[in-house]
Amino acid sequence: MESTLTAQRYYVNGEWKESTTGNVVEIMSPYKEGVVGTVQALSQEEAAAAIQSAKQVQKEWAKVSLQEKADLLYKWADELLAMQDELAQTMMLEVGKSLKDAKSEVQRTYDYIRYTAQEALHTNGESMRGDRFPGGSSSKVGIVDRVPLGVILAISPFNYPVNLSASKLAPALISGNTVIFKPATQGALSGIKMMEAFDRAGFPAGVVNIVTGRGSVIGDFLVEHKDISMVSFTGGTKTGENLAKIAGMKPVVLELGGKDPGIVREDADLDKAVKNIISGAYSYSGQRCTAIKRVLVHDNVANDLVARLQAEVEKLAVGSPEDGNTVVPLIDSKSADGVQALIDDALEKGATLIAGNKREGNLIHPTLLDHVTEDMEVAWVEPFGPVLPVIRVGSDEEAIELANKSEYGLQASIFTRDVDKAFYIANELETGAVQINGRTERGPDHFPFLGVKGSGMGTQGIANSILSMTREKLTVLNLDK
Ligand code: NAP
Ligand code: G3H
Repeated sequence: MESTLTAQRYYVNGEWKESTTGNVVEIMSPYKEGVVGTVQALSQEEAAAAIQSAKQVQKEWAKVSLQEKADLLYKWADELLAMQDELAQTMMLEVGKSLKDAKSEVQRTYDYIRYTAQEALHTNGESMRGDRFPGGSSSKVGIVDRVPLGVILAISPFNYPVNLSASKLAPALISGNTVIFKPATQGALSGIKMMEAFDRAGFPAGVVNIVTGRGSVIGDFLVEHKDISMVSFTGGTKTGENLAKIAGMKPVVLELGGKDPGIVREDADLDKAVKNIISGAYSYSGQRCTAIKRVLVHDNVANDLVARLQAEVEKLAVGSPEDGNTVVPLIDSKSADGVQALIDDALEKGATLIAGNKREGNLIHPTLLDHVTEDMEVAWVEPFGPVLPVIRVGSDEEAIELANKSEYGLQASIFTRDVDKAFYIANELETGAVQINGRTERGPDHFPFLGVKGSGMGTQGIANSILSMTREKLTVLNLDK
């Protein structure tokens, strides 16, 4: 596998190329020694040429019939599924995801692409008559259609290198846009494989172009480029905030970080709460924007909950993704250092260690901290790692206050048997979504997916993503009668 991943070329205007600079970016595995692949480090001139290719063919692509576009997307989905094992191996190697999770990511992507094509096929514009407004005439007929924006810049994060890329590419393409795809560097090998599938599916040249290289080097250039019409970004809040500042008048959709609370009321079904909190907090080592990143539990059930959580944390499978473990090494040593620092800070300030606080390289063992208080960093900072702080509260109001005090507002979970209370709390929470008696998560993928405050701007989810990448176009027919 390693040898086939070195010296990957980039894909622009239907051609595989090497950068004329001779520069490459080396991809290190989160859990293996050495370089596992290299991708081209494009210069700004090469990135600009890619944008030109996308721009040149966009109007023609927009005119291709929707049935034909859908057929091409179906072929792309088929190609991706046909390479499920290869893609999963690549994801395991470069982002440390277990083979089982990586395979289900490919299946989810196949379903996502197909649903996106079907969603577009079943969507129509509308017509309006002028006489609905005072003084207006019925001889004025407005035809409202949706048209593509132009060239979409799709920037994806490392943690779902296939799915979160396709969830930008598919809606952009089906609605007649062309794409510049900038994958996360740690995730670019999977991105290149997606382009191989795309190439085999037979899309016209220039419709999708992959631009590889460090975001810190070419990111701002891409975002600011005058021929980029819209940016769809998923990643960290800091990167997203910078992007929004420099994007000018371009529309942007930002899906950013989170600090999702799991609120456990004293009437909760604790078995259900524990099951959801454990999978919500620790799967893929907590490297999910929607992971449960803090527990706010009522004092009266806190001891019971913590004891049950401890029993389950101790059962979690920890180690290499090659052995199908749940808790795997983090993406890089910088991330592991950050998580360790949060644990150290909490313990220094008096948190109780219930499980974990053991590190081997990038592998942080699942860590559970009780009696976490507001002065500890782990109460507020997104760890993107397997550490779960438990904060004890005396009332629903205190839970709501702490939940809303966060700079983030992605999702929240409420565990309770009282549906009225659940709705009361849900209404008070400043988040994009609230899960009642379930873990925080993005799917199913046709649901709206959004964050507020530091968690994002705009909405994804299949229909919403299509809306965000198109605009209304009104044509008015002025009849004689
Ligand atoms: P990141 O460091 O912000 O990187 C995300 C993407 O932005 C990568 O493709 C990166 O490229 C690129 N980038 C870096 N600098 C850029 C710039 N100046 N201009 C444009 N693009 C730039 O995030 P990550 O480490 O991949 O992902 C972890 C974070 O993403 C966490 O905070 C997590 O919560 C969040 N996330 C949110 C969601 C959501 O849907 N809300 C989903 C997944 C992840 P390089 O890789 O080349 O640096
Ligand atoms: O990391 C961010 C993803 O959007 C989370 O997706 O909830 O399906 O794991 P997920």
